[in-house]
This record gives sequence, C-alpha cells and structure tokens, in this order.
Amino acid sequence: MRTIGVLTSGGDAPGMNAAIRAIVRTAKYHNLKVVGIERGYTGLLNGEIKEMHIASVGDIIHRGGTILKTSRCEALKTDAGINEAIHILENYEIEGLIVIGGDGSFQGAHKLGRTHIKIMGIPGTIDNDLAYTDYTIGFDTAVNTVLDAISKIRDTSMSHEKVTIIEVMGRCCGDIALYAGLAGGAESILVPEEKYEVQQICEKILQGKKRGKAHNIIMLAEGRESAVELQKEIFINTGIESRVTVLGYLQRGGIPTAVDRILASRMGAKAVSLFIEGKSNRAIGIKDNQLIDIDIVEALSKRKIFDQEMYKLSQTLSI
Ligand code: ADP
Ligand code: F6P
Repeated sequence: MRTIGVLTSGGDAPGMNAAIRAIVRTAKYHNLKVVGIERGYTGLLNGEIKEMHIASVGDIIHRGGTILKTSRCEALKTDAGINEAIHILENYEIEGLIVIGGDGSFQGAHKLGRTHIKIMGIPGTIDNDLAYTDYTIGFDTAVNTVLDAISKIRDTSMSHEKVTIIEVMGRCCGDIALYAGLAGGAESILVPEEKYEVQQICEKILQGKKRGKAHNIIMLAEGRESAVELQKEIFINTGIESRVTVLGYLQRGGIPTAVDRILASRMGAKAVSLFIEGKSNRAIGIKDNQLIDIDIVEALSKRKIFDQEMYKLSQTLSI
C-alpha cells in the first residue's frame, strides 16, 4: 500500500478531526502518502482530493465538525456513481480508502471495496446506532452536550414549575435520549425502541404534582414522535401546558470530549495499521474498551440491541 485516502461522510460528529489527524500522522509515520477527500462521496465524485501532510492536521484535535467537510451524496447510491468513484480512486492511485461515517457511509464503502480497492470503516456518528461497536465517535460529546442543555433547562423548569419536553437526535436509535436522560435525571425517556402510552407519562406528571413536584423533564428521541404532537397530547390529558425544546444541530457540533478524542485517535491509527497488515473491508469498533475490527458486511448486518438494563434503571430512578 502506497497511498491512503480518507473522507468523512453523513452527519458530522465531534472527534472526526481527531480521527483524521490519527490517520494522517500514522500514515506519515509509516512513510505512506495520504490524501484527504473533501465533502464525502460528493467530493470524491468531483475529484476534490488533496495531499495531506503532518502539518495539515495540526491544531485540529480539539475541534468539532470535520476539516474535510462532509455531505450526503445520492449519486453514490447508483451503480454509475460507484463506477465513477472507483475510476477516480484509480486515477489518484488511492489503494486504500478510509471512510469515517455511519451505516449509510459504510454501505457506500462496502460497494467500493468489492473491487481491488481496499476499504476501512471508522464509526463516526453521534447516534451510536451501529450495532457491532459499543460506541461511535461523537456519541460521548453529544451526550455531554445534551446533558449540559438538560441542566440549564432543569433550572428554568424547576423555577417555573413547568413540564419540559426535550427533543434530541437519533433517527432510529434512542441512545442519546437514554444516556443523557439517565445522567440528567429525566422523569420520562421516550425512544423509538420502546412502546409507551401517553397516559403513563401524564400519570407520572399528575402523581408528581400531587407530591408537590410540579416540574417534569421528558426526553424524547426524534425517531419516536414529534415533540409538538406530544405536547398537545399532554395538554389534552392533563390540562397542563408544557414547553418544547428541540436541540437539533446544537448536538452535532462542539469541542470533542476526551473520550471521543481518544477513541478517534485509536480508531484512526488502527485503520492505517490494518492496511499495512494487508487487510480490507473491515469496520473498526470498540468492545469492552478493546479495539476490534470485523468484516464490514457482518458489521452492517448486526441489529442494535437497546440497553434494557439502563432503560429500566432510568424508570426506577424516576418514580
Ligand atoms: P450515515 O453515514 O451517517 O448513516 P447517511 O445514511 O446519510 O449517513 O449516508 C451517508 C452517505 O453514504 C449517503 O449520502 C450516500 O452517499 C452513502 N450511502 C448511503 N447508503 C448507501 C448505499 N446503500 N449505497 C451506496 N452509498 C450509500
Ligand atoms: O448525524 C445523524 C443525525 O444527527 C440524525 O440523528 C438526524 O436525523 C440527522 O443526522 C439529521 O441531519 P441532517 O439534518 O443534516 O440531514
């Protein structure tokens, strides 16, 4: 292997820069050429490719977002797009491609890896929705960002004796809501993985009120239902007005935590090491704090298991 390419794809996640830095520095340590592909697969198809040096990744370990920029690229989902991407990778003599992104980005990488081009997947998404790994890069930072928001909202919620619904990201995965909700002492955590009756939430609000506790924090994962819809249902059932805060993009940016920087550094270095060992089509992950690498198709085929123990604990602690 002489030339490695790296791109970031899908939603940005804090720690992506630390991963890019680790890839470039590890490659340079082993005298490999490394190129950065800008704007994910869109940039690949446009040939937005530039050589990276040790200094290219200076002063970025602490920065959120991705210096390579990112995108969602519909064209790569077509056969023509894949063929064009392969053609461009060949033109630039990129023998190994490291893709930092979520499951969609891994799907694209896998298709490119069905050729002689070697590929590696590094899980970079705040959602933590990849089943083969305990954690994805960006998740810890996002949870801490949400936690900070809960703490601030709690002050106002308590002072004004309000019911507050906080909507967080996570398409089909309730991990951000679960982890931040448990850490933030939310009264209810509503996630796509678990059924709930609005009636139960209303009961909880009314019971709390009876005990003299007028404020109530509800964590809602975006994949569950609309916060405004829930707000209406609560009003119809209890006559109580609640406030909605949708955290949105606030959760994706920001300074990566130490946990994310370390995870990203380890995974980035691992991806380069695996190429040097001659491996391809691997998804890098972490299990019980040990780095792992598994076949990318196997990684994509695993179904995420929702952490029932943590969910039940959150219910017990919020009676
Ligand atoms: P994430 O990687 O965070 O899951 P997306 O699902 O939006 O984010 O996927 C990011 C990009 O990966 C897409 O815009 C597309 O370019 C590529 N991609 C997603 N699914 C596929 C697929 N089935 N085949 C080829 N490329 C895909
Ligand atoms: O990064 C993943 C994610 O944050 C999802 O939770 C969310 O649904 C999606 O990205 C929204 O991103 P965008 O609005 O940029 O498409």
